[in-house]
Amino acid sequence: MTYPDGPLPGLPTDRAELLAAAAAEYDRYQPGVPPEAADLLADTLRDLPDPTLLDLGTGTGQVPKALLKALPCLDYIEGGDWSRPMLDQARTALTPELGNCTLSLVQTSAEVYAPLAPLPGEQWWTPDLITCCRAYPWMSGPDVLARAHRIASPQASLAIMGDGTLWTHKADWSQALRRLIRQYLGAVRADVLGALPKPLRPIQEELADSAWSDVSEHRFPVTRSWTPQRVLGYLRTTSFAGTGLFTGRHAAFEEEARTLLDDLADGGDLLEETEFTVLLARRPAGAR
Ligand SMILES: C[S@@+](CC[C@H](N)C(=O)[O-])C[C@H]1O[C@@H](n2cnc3c(N)ncnc32)[C@H](O)[C@@H]1O
Repeated sequence: MTYPDGPLPGLPTDRAELLAAAAAEYDRYQPGVPPEAADLLADTLRDLPDPTLLDLGTGTGQVPKALLKALPCLDYIEGGDWSRPMLDQARTALTPELGNCTLSLVQTSAEVYAPLAPLPGEQWWTPDLITCCRAYPWMSGPDVLARAHRIASPQASLAIMGDGTLWTHKADWSQALRRLIRQYLGAVRADVLGALPKPLRPIQEELADSAWSDVSEHRFPVTRSWTPQRVLGYLRTTSFAGTGLFTGRHAAFEEEARTLLDDLADGGDLLEETEFTVLLARRPAGAR
């Protein structure tokens, strides 16, 4: 079974390059998946022979990377994303970590993802774990859940995960930064804020209304240390302060943000106390 190099049918071409500019920097600046969360995911697969993972909205492959560490016997990974530059970055990041695991990366929209039909004599591949990290809020949730139900192996688990961003973080320094970002966003602010992730509650409701209604919630406290330089790099990869958002004033924004963060850090690091949340879902026996 092989996938074509180009996008599969159904990909909204106008959105395919959405995060193109961010791909190179995303892998470098985005915080990874906490090891404790990766262990929780690995536990769902440990007793299975040749366990398989489908990661939707894989970006630069942060979930496969963490899971390969937690479960080196992972047999097959498929990552789907509509951004080709993100997938290219994922291949670069994951290839050295693969060992005996096989990797396929598919340029597709999660809502229309389908495994390729097998060659004669091969089996359909069915994911034992389907993950969606920091990506579900940008997708049509019910469509993704219905599709996951159709393609998953009978005993599969599904994990929807994420943490806050520096936009939602509530320390003095991140609130001062947010005020500055708001000033620079100006007229486009309403559009940008409208695109920010939906909170947990609607996701839980979508799960409850789907085949994946057996849900447990796991919260992992995370403390991150940021240098001002790293904050600026991270901001360039976000949907609320990315390079294209300040209509030609990005350099000025970065200069002002740098001064602000240097003052607030006062020679040290800036701390972010947050939580990484995993909604781990299964299908009740009758729904499989
Ligand atoms: C914030 S990044 C998260 C990447 C990765 N999962 C992580 O945790 O670092 C969101 C990713 O989801 C992808 N994405 C968003 N909506 C999508 C959709 N409907 N179908 C496929 N990919 C999507 C974006 O292209 C981007 O790579």
